[in-house]
Amino acid sequence: PTGPARVVIDLDLPGPTISRHLYGHFAEHLGRCIYGGFWVGEDSPLPHTNGIRSDVVEALKVLRIPNLRWPGGCFADDYHWRDGIGPREQRPRMVNSHWGDVVEDNSFGTHEFMDLCELLGADPYVSGNVGSGTVREMSEWIEYLTRGDDSPMASLRRGNGRDEPWKVPYWGLGNEAWGCGGNLRGDAFADLARQYATYVRDHGDNRVYRIAAGANADDYAWTESLMKALGCLDNDIPPVFQAVSFHYYTMSGDWQNKGDATAFDTEEYYRTITQAYRVEEMLTRHSTVMDRRDPKKRIGLVLDEWGTWWNVEEGTNPGFLYQQNTLRDALVASLHFDAFHRHADRLVMANIAQTVNVLQAMILTDPASGALVLTPTYHVFEMNTGHHDASSLTAHVLDAGTHENVPLLSASASTTGDTALISLSNLDADESRSVVLDLRGRTVESHTARLLTAGSLQAHNSPTAPEAVRPVAFDGVTAHPRGLTVDLPAHSYLTVSLDLS
Ligand code: AHR
Repeated sequence: PTGPARVVIDLDLPGPTISRHLYGHFAEHLGRCIYGGFWVGEDSPLPHTNGIRSDVVEALKVLRIPNLRWPGGCFADDYHWRDGIGPREQRPRMVNSHWGDVVEDNSFGTHEFMDLCELLGADPYVSGNVGSGTVREMSEWIEYLTRGDDSPMASLRRGNGRDEPWKVPYWGLGNEAWGCGGNLRGDAFADLARQYATYVRDHGDNRVYRIAAGANADDYAWTESLMKALGCLDNDIPPVFQAVSFHYYTMSGDWQNKGDATAFDTEEYYRTITQAYRVEEMLTRHSTVMDRRDPKKRIGLVLDEWGTWWNVEEGTNPGFLYQQNTLRDALVASLHFDAFHRHADRLVMANIAQTVNVLQAMILTDPASGALVLTPTYHVFEMNTGHHDASSLTAHVLDAGTHENVPLLSASASTTGDTALISLSNLDADESRSVVLDLRGRTVESHTARLLTAGSLQAHNSPTAPEAVRPVAFDGVTAHPRGLTVDLPAHSYLTVSLDLS
């Protein structure tokens, strides 16, 4: 590109609220996410609270995780919640057939999950079993969790040591019903979603937001089936479920060879960025399908699994989905968030897959030493906490420059009262980029900036180099007649915080 790029923002025209739930998380019984990640057990020499690893919780609290989806994923449709309550030594075992064919001892179950959510300050998002469960089983689970009187399930919960009912605001009706969740067809599942949703009852003052398992990536016909099953939405009758989801993973290859997490060249990097950009098209097109039947936007769209999916690290169990996380992953995340902010009117929740030790994790733990490492992706989540529940601002990007049709600059922005936060990603693998921030409508009194970058796109953190990629204060944002200007280093992510009057 010749000349600076321009990002035009009308600071006085706030748009839809960016729900903090777009920064949600996902933790499955998969590899070392729950076991060895969150849960170390009550006999662990590592500091823990009732078996939940303290340093993991402390690190995640910084991210202000708004919600946590559990127990799957594919695992959810094999999971029978009654196996995970009561004295641990008496809990039945099961085979985790999707993930490594390992034996699951159910030592982390409902109470442990709810304790974890309490420690994190996150809302629980429970994924119910439609694929191999029963309507009665799901109905009893929500009663167990949320009912206050002496009903059979509330009494069972009290017998297991928890007197007060919990609040469970989010409930998933199945997972990937088109695949591991039952290999169903869209219309058939849509009927099941209606049926199961009926029995996920609101007990006491708990109000459940029911999310029907949605499409695989760009399967818009699936979304159409679910929306059609909701019937007329142009009235005051509450819909039987309140949201539909979809899943989309970014990889540079295909399902057989997804690409390596750290060994990739520049062309593979750009292929990854091209794939990450596809989320924008999917958000637009799923929303368009929904708009046709639901112009008032009563039904939410939920992207409850997203992130990079690479070949597993050499020497690790292929079923455990353990992968490294580089600066490239951080840029995939920042691109997704820019797209999420632009779709804040329909997208009500998103959940990165997965929080610890699985896929695009925030945290990697070393099984031998126990060392904890924060990934570059963690830092993007942290740098973006200022967007939680802020009002979106449209950021028009002009003269971004391209690499074979891949726009090289991505941006988004939000405002809360007298502050604004701008996110800028320079996706150019090799070149820095000069950017003018054309800021209109309000006066910028002061600004600060933070930069996330490293010497190479392959840079990542490890127990021996835990801070190879970390955000630093950046003083390269300076005054410009139109607002501010910045020279964005190659392959970097920048947040600019503004004080406004
Ligand atoms: O996140 C890993 C798996 O990816 C989930 O279990 C499943 O829903 C998806 O296919």
